Amino acid sequence: MSVRRFPKSARLFRKARRLIPGGVSSLVRAGNKPHPLYFRSASGSRLIDVDGNKYLDYALGWGPVILGHSHPVVMRAVERQLKKFQTLGAQHELEIAVAEKICRMVPCAEQVAFSSTGSGAVQLALRLARAYTGRRKLLKFEGHYHGSPDNVLISFHPPGIAHPPTEPVPGSEGQSPTALDDVCVLPWNDLPALEATLEEHHRDIAAIITEPILCNTSCLVPVPGYLKGLRRLATRYGVVLVFDEIITGFRVAPGGAQELYGVRPDLATFGKAVAAGFPLSVVAGKREIMDWIAEGRVVHAGSFNGNPIALAAADAALKFLAAKRGAQLRRIRRSGEALMKGIGQQAERAGIPLLINGVGAAFHLSFTRRAEMRNYRESLEGDLEARDRFIVAMLHAGVYLLPEGRWYVSTAHSEADVEKTLEAVADVFRRFRNNRNVSRRRTKST
Ligand SMILES: Cc1ncc(COP(=O)(O)O)c(C=O)c1O
Repeated sequence: MSVRRFPKSARLFRKARRLIPGGVSSLVRAGNKPHPLYFRSASGSRLIDVDGNKYLDYALGWGPVILGHSHPVVMRAVERQLKKFQTLGAQHELEIAVAEKICRMVPCAEQVAFSSTGSGAVQLALRLARAYTGRRKLLKFEGHYHGSPDNVLISFHPPGIAHPPTEPVPGSEGQSPTALDDVCVLPWNDLPALEATLEEHHRDIAAIITEPILCNTSCLVPVPGYLKGLRRLATRYGVVLVFDEIITGFRVAPGGAQELYGVRPDLATFGKAVAAGFPLSVVAGKREIMDWIAEGRVVHAGSFNGNPIALAAADAALKFLAAKRGAQLRRIRRSGEALMKGIGQQAERAGIPLLINGVGAAFHLSFTRRAEMRNYRESLEGDLEARDRFIVAMLHAGVYLLPEGRWYVSTAHSEADVEKTLEAVADVFRRFRNNRNVSRRRTKST
C-alpha cells in the first residue's frame, strides 16, 4: 500500500523518532500502519491529517472523545473556566458539581475521588481494597488492561501461550519482579476457576479487578451470569470487587457497564469519556471503603487531582450525557449496532470470515471463522495480517481506525457517516474478495 499519501506525516515521524523514543508518546500508537500519522485538525466525527487527508474517526483518541471532537458544549465550558483559573491545588465548586452528577449516574457511586489518569485511579482503588481487607493480593484476568504500573501490567497480552493461563507474565522489561508475587491471574468468563481459586486463596486476596466488557481484548462481552457470579463470589469470600470502567464508563450506558448488566461492584474506576477528551479519572464506590481516604489512612494525592479545566469539561459532558435518561448514549449504541450489523452483512456477502464482538458503543472485528470468543486465548485465533490490510485499506478509503481492530462510536457520528463507512467497508471487502479470487486462479494455473 502506497505511503505517498502521507509525505508530511512520514517526515514528521522520522524527525520525532530522533527526539522522542519510538517517535510516539504512548507505545500503542506506534502500531498504526503504514506509520503513525500527524493531524492538523479535528471536529465532530472528522479528522484532517497534516497532508490534508480527511477521515471519519472511529479511534476517538482511544475512547475519550465521546461527544466527537471539539463539541461546543464542552468547548464553551472549558473556555469559561480557562478565564477564571486553570489550576489551584485548592478546592472549587466544580469538584462538588461533578461528584454529584457521578453519584446520580453510577449505581455503585456513594463517593468519588478524582485523579488524572486511568492508571492512577486503578492504583487508588487497589490500595483502598488492600487497606479495607487487610489482604495483599490482587486477582486479575488474562487479557485485561488496567494501566502500565508494575503491579497490573501482568498477563495483559503475553507473547505466546505455552504457559498456563494462571502464570503471571510481566508486560515490560524493568518491571519489579516482586510485583508478580502479589497477583493471581485467571482466564476470564470462567466462574468455576474463580471459585476454586478463591476457595483456596481468599485469605490473601484483597481485590478482584475486571474490565466488565473486555474492550482491551477484542471487546469480548461477559457470558450471561458471569458478572453476577463475580459479585456473588466476591461477597462470599469478602473480596473487594473492582470494575475497571475506564473504557465502558459514560460510554455503554450513563451508569457504565454496571448499569448495563445490573451488577454493582464495590469500587469502580473511570477515565476517558468522563471528561470527553480532557484528562480526568475517578474512583467511585462504597462510602465505607472510600472513608479510608477521609480518615487519612489511605493516601490519595496528586498535583492535578480535581483539575478545574478537566472538571469543567466533565461537568458539561456529563450533563449532556445524562439528559433524557441517556438519550445520547442510546443514539451512539444505535449507530454502533448499525455499523456492526452492516459490516457483518458486507463480510458475509463477500465471503470473508469475520466475528464482531462488543456492544454498539465499542466493538471489534476479528478476521476468523470462530463463531464466538470468551477469553484472551480464544481471541488469538484471528488473521492479524487480514486485519492489518483491512485497516490500511480503510485508511485509504477515508476511515481512521485503531491499529488493533477496535471501533469507538461518538454522538457526533451521524446516519450519513454510518452509511459512508459501510460503503467504504463494502468496497474494501469487494477488493479483498477479488484479490483472493485472482490469487486462487493464479495458484490453480501454476
Ligand atoms: C480498562 C483500562 N484501564 C486502565 C487504563 C489506563 O488508563 P490511562 O491510560 O489513562 O492511565 C486503560 C487505558 O487504556 C484502560 O483501557
